[in-house]
Order: sequence, then C-alpha cells, then structure tokens
Amino acid sequence: MGAGIAAYKVPGVVRHFMKLGDDVRVMPTRSSLHFVGKTTWQALSNNPAHTDVFEEEAGVDHVEAARNADLIVIAPATADLIARIRIGLADDLLTTTVLAATCPVLVVPAMHTAMWENPATQDNISVLKERGIHVLEPTEGALSSGDTGRGRMPEADQIAEAAEAILADVSGAGESSAGVPGMAGDLSAGISGAGASDLGGAPQVTGVPDMAGIKAFVTAGGTREPIDPVRYLGNHSTGKQGVAIAQALKEAGAEVTLFAANIADDLIPSGIEVVQTPSATDLHDAVTSRAGEFQLGFFVAAVADFRPRKYNEAKVKKTEANADGWTIDLVRNPDILKETAAKFPELFCVGFAAETGDDAQIMEFGREKARRKGADLIAINRVGTGVGFGTAENAITVVTEAGDVVLKASGTKLEVARVLVALTKQKLL
Ligand code: C5P
Repeated sequence: MGAGIAAYKVPGVVRHFMKLGDDVRVMPTRSSLHFVGKTTWQALSNNPAHTDVFEEEAGVDHVEAARNADLIVIAPATADLIARIRIGLADDLLTTTVLAATCPVLVVPAMHTAMWENPATQDNISVLKERGIHVLEPTEGALSSGDTGRGRMPEADQIAEAAEAILADVSGAGESSAGVPGMAGDLSAGISGAGASDLGGAPQVTGVPDMAGIKAFVTAGGTREPIDPVRYLGNHSTGKQGVAIAQALKEAGAEVTLFAANIADDLIPSGIEVVQTPSATDLHDAVTSRAGEFQLGFFVAAVADFRPRKYNEAKVKKTEANADGWTIDLVRNPDILKETAAKFPELFCVGFAAETGDDAQIMEFGREKARRKGADLIAINRVGTGVGFGTAENAITVVTEAGDVVLKASGTKLEVARVLVALTKQKLL
C-alpha cells in the first residue's frame, strides 16, 4: 500500500480477504506509515508487515512472497508509486515484490485530480495496462484537498470485488485454453456485480439480479469423441467461459446444473450440480432428458460436429493393414442447442457463437445462427482478432432470434458472464 489519505479504506479490503480465510500480507511503503501504522496492519492481517527488503527476517522474502501470491493489490497507488512501478524501480519491499511477481497485479490509484490527469501519470497508467496490470480507475467526488474531481479511491467493497473478479478469472472464467489470465483490464469503478457494459439503447443491465427459484443449466467444456479405449477426437476448449456463467448464475441465487465436458475439477465452482458428459452423445442424452426441469439453458460447450462412426472396443494397433494410413469414418453429431430449443419451447435458450470476420459479417453470422438454432439469444464472440481467444478481456455482442442487438459487453470473463446473466433475467420476466 502507498501513502495516501485513502489508506483508511484499505483495512476493509484486508478484513474482506481475512474473512474468506486468505493469507494476507500487507507491505506498506515507508511514507504510507504516516497514515496507517504497522501495528494496525499486523493486527488485521495476523502477519508481519514489512517495508524494507533488509528488515529483520524479511531477508529474501520478496521473492518468496512474489512466488506465493495469487494476487497483489496496490491500494492506494500514488502517482509516485505508479511511476516507480512503471520504470521497474525496486527501492523498497513493495516495488521489489511487484518486480518479482508473476501473479496478477491490481493497481488502485488515488490522488488529486490534477496529478491523475497529468500526462505523466496517464502515460504511466497506459504502460502498466499494456503490461497486463489491472487498474481500478479512481472515481469522482470530494478529495482530501477540499476540491472535487476524479481521483477518489473506490470503496473497500469495490476493491475487494474487483480483486475477486480477477481471482475468479484466473481460476477459470475464460473463453478457452488460449485465455491468458491476468492480462490487462480496465476495471471500471462501478463494477458492482454487473461489470462494464455498453448497451446501445438496450434495457439497463446493472446490479446482481435476483434469480432465486430459477433453475438454470450450462453446457461447458469441449467434448471428446472416442475412437478406441485410448484415443479420442477433441478440441481445445477448457470450459472456462461456461464456468464463469455458472458462477454468475450461482451468485444471482439460481439453482445451477453444469453439464461438464472434460472440465478440470479445480475450475468447477462449489455449490452447483455437476453432470459429467464427456462426449457429444453423453451431453446430448443428458441435456435432452433433463431440459424439462429448467427455465434457462446456456449452451456454451464446444460440441464436436462429428464423431467416429465406429468405436473400436480394442486399441487399434499398427499393423501391415494400416501401414499406409488409417481412415476414420465420421458421422454428424446432433445439434444439441437446436434440438433442445425445438423440443422445449418453454426453455429460454442462450447459445454462443465464436465468429471471425468484420463487424457486419459477424452480426449476420450471429443472426443467422440464432434463427437457425431457435435460440432466444446468441452471444457472439469475435475470435482471431486478439479479442475473445487469447486475451482476458472478453467482448460479446448479444442478438435475439429476431436479429436485434440487445447487449454489447466487455470486461473480464466473469464480468461479461454477470452482465449476460442479468440480461437473461430481464428477458425471462
Ligand atoms: O454451430 P456452432 O457450433 O457454431 O454453434 C455453437 C452453439 O451451438 C453453441 O451454443 C454450442 O454450445 C451449440 N452446439 C450444440 N450442439 C452441437 C453444436 C453446437 O449445442 N452439436
């Protein structure tokens, strides 16, 4: 933590993570101790609070602390501290730790408006973002100088929420295996629950929706189509996007079932029903037999379009007969979204479409897909352009079956999931 009057809000952030059972280490800069002393930090975090690398028992702790941390939150981040991080200074324990860290870093600036708006600070902030550091921008309001303007540090609960969004993103809320956690993100200060959204005339989607009493399912992951007992045809999807939606539904109070196609156990949130559906056939059978129980279905899984026509009960060996090659005959898999939407007209169906092309093409593909599959909404994710796949920033455009754009949302995968869930709640009413 840096030296600013906003330091008085930071104990709330420490307490939040202590309540969750996290191991919290506070590293105050030397001048920040004018605002809040070490005794307070030590008492709140139950850990020593060091300032300098050479403090007794701190020793080489910065490397250890940097290696062990899941997230570093720098709040308040003064103009001076931001500048020091930008140029890679390592003149105290905090900056040394940041330099050694590989985990995500959340910077929460707080300063006078003039300092915040100074091109030097703005330039430093842009560089930090380019490097993948998250920045929770200051809000407007009364400043300690008596002036009013942008520069106020967001409240403790907003900082905790932003930190949790990053942690959730790291532990699973992405689009694909290519999704890199901890990349640059503009976390708007008004993040509370719904994430950043650009609604373009669509109904306002804010706050955490109340979905108590609603039963929802999510298909997620990538199916594997068995060839023989040891081989399959698969894809790179890890299920992170679907998991983020399941998480957002759970947060909203819905009863959630996750139809999981090969998702790593540690990605799956607690408190939801999980049905393992490794192949497209498993997923098809599970969803079509149970869809009648639900009001809402999100079809996020990457379902293989084809599967081997024949499953070999024994492992296929290299023989003289296949010395020249091996041809696997494929048959089409059923389209689970299309079939479910047709069979269960009462079910509100949200599909996903990863598309490439320019804006107009992408919108047309999405509209066509919504109509063809009978989905109530299709969330279109642009891929192959540095957005969607391979970035932590996710951007979706949601169209209705009639082809209307009802939402554009961007932010971390969990933020986007929250906005999408809030939208479906509105549509369900
Ligand atoms: O046709 P395409 O694969 O692009 O459609 C993607 C959408 O359809 C996703 O929502 C996906 O989960 C769903 N889908 C499905 N069953 C399939 C293929 C896709 O439910 N066999």
